Amino acid sequence: MASLAARSLRSAARRTSRITAQVAAKPSQTAAYSLLARSAAAGASRQAVPTAARGIKTLDFAGTKEEVYERADWPLAKLQDYFKNDTLALIGYGSQGHGQGLNARDNGLNVIVGVRKGGESWKQAQEDGWVPGENLFPIEEAINKGTIIMNLLSDAAQSQTWPTVAPLITKGKTLYFSHGFSVVFKDDTKVIPPTDVDVILVAPKGSGRTVRTLFKEGRGINSSVAVWQDVTGNAKEKAIALGVAVGSGYMYETTFEKEVYSDLYGERGVLMGGIQGMFLAQYKVLRANGHSPSEAFNETVEEATQSLFPLIGAHGMDYMYNACSTTARRGALDWAPIFEAANKPVFEALYASVKNGTETRKSLEFNGRDTYRADLAKELAEIDDQEIWRAGKTVRSLRPDYKPE
Ligand SMILES: NC(=O)c1ccc[n+]([C@@H]2O[C@H](COP(=O)([O-])OP(=O)(O)OC[C@H]3O[C@@H](n4cnc5c(N)ncnc54)[C@H](OP(=O)(O)O)[C@@H]3O)[C@@H](O)[C@H]2O)c1
Repeated sequence: MASLAARSLRSAARRTSRITAQVAAKPSQTAAYSLLARSAAAGASRQAVPTAARGIKTLDFAGTKEEVYERADWPLAKLQDYFKNDTLALIGYGSQGHGQGLNARDNGLNVIVGVRKGGESWKQAQEDGWVPGENLFPIEEAINKGTIIMNLLSDAAQSQTWPTVAPLITKGKTLYFSHGFSVVFKDDTKVIPPTDVDVILVAPKGSGRTVRTLFKEGRGINSSVAVWQDVTGNAKEKAIALGVAVGSGYMYETTFEKEVYSDLYGERGVLMGGIQGMFLAQYKVLRANGHSPSEAFNETVEEATQSLFPLIGAHGMDYMYNACSTTARRGALDWAPIFEAANKPVFEALYASVKNGTETRKSLEFNGRDTYRADLAKELAEIDDQEIWRAGKTVRSLRPDYKPE
């Protein structure tokens, strides 16, 4: 990071004046741009104080010190200067392509999109203002034009298209991912990057839709950043700068391996698979004991999502416990270790299944099918049809702020 510091100091004065000039030169940019420009200007003024000149914070996370990088180190003019000779070629336009691409474009960078001509994403990109032949191209053409190749195809598609993509990633380009999946599980995906390019990762910790909405609100999403291969010596700096470019507020350093293991594990666990399993198990036992659907749903999902989980999110678990009755507290304190003991072996089996590639192989098989969209829709329709979620529709309709779905 020494080069980052040197660059930062050398061009500090130049930058401040350029912020004004460049923002003024782009009057038609979106509201998001001006919001960010304001925060960039604020960042620039903060840089006058040496201790705050770096957007790197060493923070104590429960006794472990970790470095966190923040957008404040990259005022807009510096960001634009850093990438002035680059073309960011965004390959794929799913939720991340949409969020990251529009944010980088609104940040005034040179961005092009590469997707299958005539596909769903091609249409979506045009709706978002990308123009065929100008900044929207078929995949191979976009890679040829780009210097930073942001591979945001679905993970299965990254593997399927690699034989045609790989020869186009020539020396001097940078290869960027938002997931460690393809390169970490290279034995299954066959994605083996060329040895003469930087390979980096920025993985927003949230949907691409959130990446976009937070940016438009002048805020930023948390992202993980990592380096797989550093041939230029600048890979980490570039990853952090790209993290800012696509709309990150804070960036946590990790490795490709840790990013993909934790991500696949979390979404299969508490974030999605685990929560559906817990909800369903609790609901079914209540129903088997004669409770009505509304009572079972209210006691399982509605109170959790509407009352208690937001308290955990805002203030932590102890706060939520404290906010509940003494009766609830006593029982929860007694049963939490029983649930932990029952669930831990499941989580251990899950982590092993992630690490040994089983989860990757399943995902590649399923998401690589020609029928993957229809197959997924069928399984999601089955969830939608479960009694718990049908009951939920009626419960939700009684909320004071209900809007028809
Ligand atoms: N979504 C998230 O919450 C999230 C969060 C962090 C990181 N990530 C990572 O970001 C990357 C992109 O994910 P995503 O959710 O934005 O996208 P996605 O929905 O998984 O992928 C969509 C893109 O892949 C293209 N695609 C699918 N099959 C293709 C094929 N055979 N050939 C060419 N293109 C194909 C689609 O184009 P068509 O429309 O033409 O089919 C579309 O542009 C992944 O590595 C993912 O793990 C995602």
